[in-house]
Amino acid sequence: MPLARPIVFGNWKMYGLRADSRARAEAVAAFARPDHGTVGVFPPFTVLREVVEVVGDRPVVVGGQDCHDRPEGAFTGSISPVMLRDAGAGAVIVGHSERRHGLGEGDDFVRRKAAAARAAGLLVVLCIGETEEEYLAGRRYEVLDRQLAGSLPEGAGPEDLVVAYEPVWAIGTGRTPTLEEIREIHGWLRRELARRLAGGAEVALLYGGSVKPDNAAGILAQPDVDGVLVGGASLDPGQFRHIYEAGGAGR
Ligand code: 13P
Repeated sequence: MPLARPIVFGNWKMYGLRADSRARAEAVAAFARPDHGTVGVFPPFTVLREVVEVVGDRPVVVGGQDCHDRPEGAFTGSISPVMLRDAGAGAVIVGHSERRHGLGEGDDFVRRKAAAARAAGLLVVLCIGETEEEYLAGRRYEVLDRQLAGSLPEGAGPEDLVVAYEPVWAIGTGRTPTLEEIREIHGWLRRELARRLAGGAEVALLYGGSVKPDNAAGILAQPDVDGVLVGGASLDPGQFRHIYEAGGAGR
């Protein structure tokens, strides 16, 4: 079944020890409603299992922040999609800019990770986005086009894929594109996914980059924005709840 909208996912990045992660997960599970969109959290690997246990059977997606492209092997420090699934995860982020740009991961590796995650039964949250330099040089669509061509997993559809547009210059900076730009980019993404994948028009599209309680409603109201991927504000359950509620009911 395609995910209920609005989709509000929190990427906890490299924040959280066991006690505060448990508390954060409990707070999210307490406000998550089965009749209101889809909420999810992406904790660090070390606390993922605990978050799965805290959430229990309440309607919160729990996912990993990255995975390898192989089910197992001699890859020191890596986590496979099969392991994530075994730990109780239902989703995984791949291609986040902090891995693409921070750790030099390329489109092809991201595509292989996404394919492996689908094969393991995980929902893939594929991130794409241009850097500030690319944005200022007017190369946004060229970069997004290249990232889609290189990292979209073959055969994926609305059941197992979500695409998150996260401009690198908006992540953790307090800056965002204008609502008009977000609308235009997500409209373009919708058309591109429809062209590239069977069922691609139904693939959920998220915006990520400095989503906060005060800008979430405006962003979530844009026609092709099905949800948001939240970093910093997802660490504060009060702010995260506000963003979740900002999506409005019954969309
Ligand atoms: P911020 O919300 O902190 O800008 O982070 C966005 C992000 O990278 C989510 O994956």
